Amino acid sequence: MKKLSKAAHRIEGQKMFQILAKTRELEQQGKEILHFELGDPDFSTPPNITQAAYEAILDGKTHYAPSSGLIELREAAADVTSRSRGFRPDLDQLLVCPGANVIIYYALACTVDPGEEVIVPDPGFVSYFSILKYLGINVVRIPLKEENEFRLNPDDVEKAITEKTRMIIMNSPSNPTGAVMTQDEIRRMYEIAEKHDVYLLSDEIYARMIYKESGTDHFSPSQFDHCRERTIIVNGFSKSYAMTGWRLGVATGPAEVISKMGLLLETTTSCVSPFIQKAGIEALTGSQEPIMKMVQEFRNRRDNIVRGLNSLPGVSCLTPRGAFYAFPNITQTGWSSSEFADIMLSEAGVAVAPGPIFGQYAEGYVRLCYANSIEYTNRAIEKMRPILTERMVSVP
Ligand SMILES: Cc1ncc(COP(=O)(O)O)c(C=O)c1O
Repeated sequence: MKKLSKAAHRIEGQKMFQILAKTRELEQQGKEILHFELGDPDFSTPPNITQAAYEAILDGKTHYAPSSGLIELREAAADVTSRSRGFRPDLDQLLVCPGANVIIYYALACTVDPGEEVIVPDPGFVSYFSILKYLGINVVRIPLKEENEFRLNPDDVEKAITEKTRMIIMNSPSNPTGAVMTQDEIRRMYEIAEKHDVYLLSDEIYARMIYKESGTDHFSPSQFDHCRERTIIVNGFSKSYAMTGWRLGVATGPAEVISKMGLLLETTTSCVSPFIQKAGIEALTGSQEPIMKMVQEFRNRRDNIVRGLNSLPGVSCLTPRGAFYAFPNITQTGWSSSEFADIMLSEAGVAVAPGPIFGQYAEGYVRLCYANSIEYTNRAIEKMRPILTERMVSVP
C-alpha cells in the first residue's frame, strides 16, 4: 500500500462517533441499547425551520451561495449578538460555516502555527484535541477539578502561559461537564488574554442552555473587545435548535481572521447550502418558543438524571449548570472509566462515553447526554442498578 502523509497519521476523528458505530453494530445483532453517548437532542427540528428549508428548495435556492454566507443570515446573527452580547458585529466579522466543529479548525489553522501552544480545558470537547494534534500545535492542558465544579480556573490558565502561547480555548457551558463559568472568571479570562496578547476562542455553542437557578445568564468575553481584537466566538445551531444534521454554525471574530477563515472555507467546502442558511434565518428570526420549551425540558431531565445517578451505588454526580451532559464520578465502583462504559454497554445495554475520551484528566468519570425522555433515562438507571449493586458488594 502507498504510504500515508504524516498529517494523516495524526488524525483521530471524534471517538463518540466511533462508540456510536459500535452500539449500532450491537443493535443490528438484535440487542436493545439505550443511548447516552452522543450529544444529539432527541427533539425534532422545529417545524417552522424545516418549512423554511423546504420552501427554499422549492424556490430554487439549491445553487452556490456567497462563501462567507448570505447577508440576510449574517444580519440576523448580528442582531442576535447585539441582543445577547450587547454589541453588533460588522458583517465582515461573521462567517457562516457548515457546523461549529469546522469553526474551531478554521480558527486554529488561521491563527496558530505548528509548534506553538494553545491552552485547552481538560476534560474538554474532543475536537479541540484532535484538531490541535492534526495541525501539529502543542496542547497545554488545564485540569478541571470536581472540587471547583469543573470550572476553568483563570489562575491556572495564567500560570500555563509561555512565550509560545497563541490562543486560549474556553467553553462555557462546557462539554463534557456542563460547568458554567462565573462572570468574574470570564472577565479574568479576557484580562489574561489581553495582558499576554493571545487569542481567546470562546466556544459558546451551549450559550442558550444555561439553567437559570445558577444565577448566571450567559456571559461572553466578547463583550470586552466586541470580537475586534482577540475574541473568536464559536456558535452553532446544532444543540439549541435541535439541528445537528443540518450542519450550520456562525463564527464571529476580528475581520482579518474571519476573512482568512472564509478563504479556507471557500477553498475546502465552497459555501454552506443556501437552503440550509434560509433555515438558519428562520431559526434566528422566528418564534423562540420551541427553544425555550426544549431548554425547560432539558432542565427537568437534568434534575431527574442527577437524582437517578446519585441513587446508584458507587456513583456520585454534581448538578451541571448548563448544556445537556451529566459527568458522574465512578471511582467508587473500582472500575476504570472504560471498564465502566464497556460493562454498562454489554451487560445493561446502556451506552455512555468514558471520561478519558475528553482528555487526560478525566479518568474516573463518564459522560451521559440527557437528551432523552425521563422515562428512557429511568429505564437506563434501573438497568444499571443491579450491576452496580452487585459490584459494590464484591468491591473490598
Ligand atoms: C463544545 C462543542 N463545540 C462544538 C461542537 C460542534 O457542533 P456542530 O454540530 O455544530 O459541529 C460541539 C458538538 O458536540 C460541542 O460540544
